[in-house]
Amino acid sequence: MAVLFLSEPARGAVFERAFADALPDLPFHLGHAPDPAAVDYMVAWTPPADLSAYPNLRLIFSVGAGVDQFDLTALPPQVGVVRMLEPGIARQMVQMAVMAVLALHRDLPAYLDQARQGRWQARANRPAEATRIGVMGLGQLGQAVLDALAPFGFARAGWSRSPRSLPGVDCMTDLDAFLARTDILICLLPLTEQTRGILNDDLFARLPDGAHLVHLGRGAQLEPGALERALDAGLASAWLDVTNPEPLPADHPLWRDPRVIVTPHVASQTDAADGAAHVIAGIRADRAGRDAPGLIDRGRGY
Ligand code: NAP
Ligand code: GLV
Repeated sequence: MAVLFLSEPARGAVFERAFADALPDLPFHLGHAPDPAAVDYMVAWTPPADLSAYPNLRLIFSVGAGVDQFDLTALPPQVGVVRMLEPGIARQMVQMAVMAVLALHRDLPAYLDQARQGRWQARANRPAEATRIGVMGLGQLGQAVLDALAPFGFARAGWSRSPRSLPGVDCMTDLDAFLARTDILICLLPLTEQTRGILNDDLFARLPDGAHLVHLGRGAQLEPGALERALDAGLASAWLDVTNPEPLPADHPLWRDPRVIVTPHVASQTDAADGAAHVIAGIRADRAGRDAPGLIDRGRGY
């Protein structure tokens, strides 16, 4: 039995120390396994395309929350995929989402634009109670964001594939009805074949005039050009932490659009020590015959 770590070496060094303390009986290899057939567990952002050298691989742990970087159809069927669930990811996502929602609710893009022109001009403040937040994706991150937004008084709704029930949140599965009542749309969906390009012309057209977008999921959920067209057609502003393409090229017009704030995919960054603890807990669960926390449903894609 062995673990192979295939991500950044600095992060790997933290994992190596944590594994030496917590699972000293389990050989831990950084970057290369002397005997690939002994590897049961792999930690990676993207695993090798050909896994045939690892016939006994049981689990691949993603170093990030998303697993869309894996080609799930190409992985051997017996290999489980585990997403990263260290608690700092949700804490940082909450910070980013609250910052973005308040910035768009309080017209920060317009005030930044006015500031660049040296223009002192007040806009009317809207009450939070009259502003309807809608979160696409009611997983661990969508739920954490909705909880954190509760004290501000926004009307809150969420959209998911299966019916959910969350206190104080209008949980919806009807996308049309959800979009029609959403003034600030937050995307926190995983990237799957169903959600690729979901932020498209048709979706933006179904939002009320003057709505805003906060995109925190994956860049490929945004159809190229659709946001620019929506902004011209009545979408008020957008905060993009993820873009399509990503990285956003330096000459892309969205960088210079005063209605748009772009951050370079930094909403959440996995803490190495807490990430190692999550992987160690997953390996312990697997060795005890239980599912590792964060084991995804490969058929669903998340
Ligand atoms: P999660 O716990 O797996 O939750 C996913 C949610 O999306 C679930 O509520 C699920 O519905 C819903 N969903 C999936 N496919 C859907 C579809 N076709 N239609 C409607 N709802 C659908 O995921 P999470 O941990 O909250 O993370 C969400 C995503 O955030 C990650 O996959 C990653 O891409 C992104 N992320 C971004 C950053 C960043 O730095 N920007 C950092 C971390 C994560 P059900 O409840 O019905 O299953
Ligand atoms: C970041 O985007 C992650 O998936 O952790």
